[in-house]
Amino acid sequence: MDRIPEPELMDEAPQARAYAEADFSLTDQAFTERFHQLVPEPGPRIVDLGCGPGNVSFRIAAACPHAEVVGIDGAAAMLAIAAERQWAAGVAAERLRFLQLDLADGALTSPPLAGSFSAVVSNSVLHHLHDPQVFWAAVRRLGAPGALVVVRDLRRPATLQDLETIVAREAAEAPPILRRDYRASLHAAFTTEEVEDQLRRAGLTGWRVEPLEDRYLEVWGQLTASPAAGTTPPAAGR
Ligand SMILES: C[S@@+](CC[C@H](N)C(=O)[O-])C[C@H]1O[C@@H](n2cnc3c(N)ncnc32)[C@H](O)[C@@H]1O
Repeated sequence: MDRIPEPELMDEAPQARAYAEADFSLTDQAFTERFHQLVPEPGPRIVDLGCGPGNVSFRIAAACPHAEVVGIDGAAAMLAIAAERQWAAGVAAERLRFLQLDLADGALTSPPLAGSFSAVVSNSVLHHLHDPQVFWAAVRRLGAPGALVVVRDLRRPATLQDLETIVAREAAEAPPILRRDYRASLHAAFTTEEVEDQLRRAGLTGWRVEPLEDRYLEVWGQLTASPAAGTTPPAAGR
């Protein structure tokens, strides 16, 4: 099945609200635990790329009490919900901050953001990018030398029938707007081979790309100690 890109930002208020109200707790918790397993010592600053309403940002901030977490997203509608949640949960701004920035924004290439994060995470975002190299460039720019990177995303099904089977199974009870977005996201997602090719083109060599279940993929690796020199293979195994 060919890829069909979807809109990058989730900036419609009803769309952001439907996403925030959906229960992704099992997969969000599994991703947080996986991050902790791969990156037991994440260092002082963690960035969550395409953080949405902060589903993963809040969990990582709770799991990493010595780190500052920064969530970046281009959608004001998503970040308004993240801010509401932060206020309601009373999480201090020194522990968790949200920034409205597109991943292509020039602010990512200069101080104080560029090269300032000891770890990079991202959940369910790569497939939104029309040009996936924008995503990998953001990872390279934001990560400090030696930063560990853990990315999970949807994986494009092989056929339309497979896609519809997944939508029927996973989103049968979801509101129509969420079901629409889920279908569009599966159409827009990449295959493991496509992501491997993206990493090669980005100069992120030695990174791992693994399929998970019938609809996810996981990517992880480490930026090299010298930002100009590319990357080193990840240190830990699955
Ligand atoms: C499916 S949501 C995932 C949200 C969150 N990571 C989570 O795990 O729940 C994808 C998010 O990526 C954001 N996004 C997509 N393209 C982006 C871009 N080019 N720059 C910044 N954010 C982007 C969208 O606005 C949306 O909030």
